[in-house]
Amino acid sequence: MKNARFLALAAAAFLSAPLTTLAAVPEPLVPPHQKWDFDGPFGQFDQKALQRGFMVYDRICSTCHGMKALTYNDLSGIGMSEQAILDLAHSKMIAGPPDVSGQPTSRPGRPDDHFRSPFPSDEAAAAMMGGVAPPDQSRLAVIQPHGADWLYAFLTGYKMPPPADAPVVPGKFYNDWVDGHLIGMPPPLMNGMIQYPDGTPATVEQQARDVTSFLVWAADPHRNARHRTGLWVVLYLIGLLVLAIAWKKKTWKRVKSQ
Ligand code: HEC
Repeated sequence: MKNARFLALAAAAFLSAPLTTLAAVPEPLVPPHQKWDFDGPFGQFDQKALQRGFMVYDRICSTCHGMKALTYNDLSGIGMSEQAILDLAHSKMIAGPPDVSGQPTSRPGRPDDHFRSPFPSDEAAAAMMGGVAPPDQSRLAVIQPHGADWLYAFLTGYKMPPPADAPVVPGKFYNDWVDGHLIGMPPPLMNGMIQYPDGTPATVEQQARDVTSFLVWAADPHRNARHRTGLWVVLYLIGLLVLAIAWKKKTWKRVKSQ
């Protein structure tokens, strides 16, 4: 009897030990789930949101972040006209080869140029930005777990002023959604900082939603076409299945009636 009680106590202690150690490990932050048009196997990007998102990228993020994987021509995928792409590319000065005396040169961009990077190199970017280079944004949305939800939470997650118990480090900003809650990127979005041509009010939340959609699109520009093909393939297979069932029924009817 005594033995049994001892065994039960030992078992309880053994079982509770891993639980207490587990409780001490901080949980990975899971951002709240947002509803996105492009979610799900047949989800489609909303072109208006992508165009607004590109505007946020172009006016704000691109002053610090590059997006080397995209060319200006790729923007036809978000519904930009050929002329608008030509004008946009032309407005960007792209670094050319040094001239005969070794001086740097630049030229207006062309539609087949890759997006211009704001800094000549990662080292130059890090030197300008207090030690950490802003990462290239081409694949940002797929590198992060919970890509879109995290980006939205992060872009709307700055606290100014920071909570009273947060560590204060010069040149770092408090954000709920980064490791250690401190990041070298200043809060990039402000209410009404840009004006959308379609009249959508440019709140911080709206800009965050739109630029997130754009970053997800940029990392996967063919999703709409793929999802549309997927839908047709599924419809085609359902059609085949219906035909096969009808054919089977007809054949068995014939067999049974013989
Ligand atoms: C003033 C320059 C600047 C602007 C403008 C800017 N960023 Fe950043 N961003 C940075 C720097 C610097 C870092 C790296 C900071 C670090 O790791 O401490 C960074 C990092 C990031 C990260 C990675 C965070 C992480 O924890 O991995 C994301 C995502 C990001 N930026 C998105 C954006 C978006 C979207 C915009 C436009 C709305 C934007 N940034 C505008 C400078 C900027």
